[in-house]
Amino acid sequence: MHHALHSPRRSASVVLALVLAATVAAALAVGASARASRSNHRSKSRSHSVQKVVHGAGGLSITSQPWGTVPAHPPLNQALPASLYTLSNAHQMTVKITNYGGVVQSIWVPDRRGHVKDVALGFPDLQGYVTDFTNPPAGGSGDTYFGAIIGRYANRIANGKFALDAVYTLPQNNGPNTLHGGPDAYNTQVWNATPSAGPHSVSLKLTYTDPDGYNGFPGQVSNVVTYTLTQDNALHIDYSATTTKSTVINLTNHTYFNLAGEGSGDVFGQLLQINADSFTPTNANLIPTGQIVPVAGTPFDFRTLKPIGRDIHSAGAPEGNQLVLAHGFDHNWVLNGSGMKLAAVAEDPSSGRVLSTYTTEPGVQFYSGNFLVGDLVGPSGNTYRQSDGFTLETQHYPDSPNESTFPTTRLDPGQTFTSSTIYKFATAGGGHGHGH
Ligand code: GLA
Repeated sequence: MHHALHSPRRSASVVLALVLAATVAAALAVGASARASRSNHRSKSRSHSVQKVVHGAGGLSITSQPWGTVPAHPPLNQALPASLYTLSNAHQMTVKITNYGGVVQSIWVPDRRGHVKDVALGFPDLQGYVTDFTNPPAGGSGDTYFGAIIGRYANRIANGKFALDAVYTLPQNNGPNTLHGGPDAYNTQVWNATPSAGPHSVSLKLTYTDPDGYNGFPGQVSNVVTYTLTQDNALHIDYSATTTKSTVINLTNHTYFNLAGEGSGDVFGQLLQINADSFTPTNANLIPTGQIVPVAGTPFDFRTLKPIGRDIHSAGAPEGNQLVLAHGFDHNWVLNGSGMKLAAVAEDPSSGRVLSTYTTEPGVQFYSGNFLVGDLVGPSGNTYRQSDGFTLETQHYPDSPNESTFPTTRLDPGQTFTSSTIYKFATAGGGHGHGH
């Protein structure tokens, strides 16, 4: 192998294959034992910039690899390298996360027969995210926010304005609204990343400090988002934030799921249950009207499992034109209960994959991928068309800063905002209940 590496006549593809082989070998060596690491000193030092491994107990691991460079953009205006982290457990689950926007790039989980697929929509490389998040081509799907951490204010703020002690004006990046924190928001930042391994889980801790006044928001906000993969096939996302001035905060993750595998077609046949008796209808700009309306008797009734596509084409009463305005589902459901509670259950009847979502947040934005128009190509090599994925964005209600009856999104100095969401995967076999 070393001989071939030093051959002057090697072809590019041979070199690539050998580098990959060396990377794998080096990664194994790093994890094996101190003696093995010492005797493989050369490949270890070569691998140092290529891949780092932290091993936990019982088959848990987290590795990192360089993933390219993020071009300079606000607020730092400095090009920065990004990494891709691979979190794996002993039960066939692997989650890949980049510190560019804290994006969950892929989620590999088994079906009821043990076949593993990636159930998160995304891009194969960093460039795909950078282009989509900062410069999406006109007439295409626009900014999808695939897999990203969303802040400082997830979802919409009407007319880019809100009042606290003063009136604040934000950049409008979604018609008249400010969406997902405005341009170059949390999803485009290179977060500081610290991998770690515990006895029952592996974690990636991400931090980002959002400057005072950036995108019009008051206060410097220090954010910590920790992703944790556990042995029971759950991805935990724990958020915390503090501020130097009174501000508003709403944090979420924007992963699009397709439980049959990304790029496998639409999700109309996948089943969804949302633990909510009511939702917040919107105006034509997708801003809540302020009403909290019961879902009973409307297409928004997901109180028991039903196919996502069953009512999605409904245009009429009694819900008015809600599904017309949003081109499908793109609404906030008012979750039943408080504290950490079940928000939603999704199930793909053909593969048996089940996703249960738990959260401490009061709402969930269920978005049925309405704006995907077939111009984006996922890691599968297939395109994403309308409703080829769905999001379950756990969060406070949209436009809360302008709706005094909604749970508050205000954060004051001295307080710590905290929020937790769990995406837990299992399989259901032939109607015999859930397990894995
Ligand atoms: C959120 C919004 C949608 C859309 C997507 C990204 O889910 O609610 O309207 O903007 O983000 O395309």
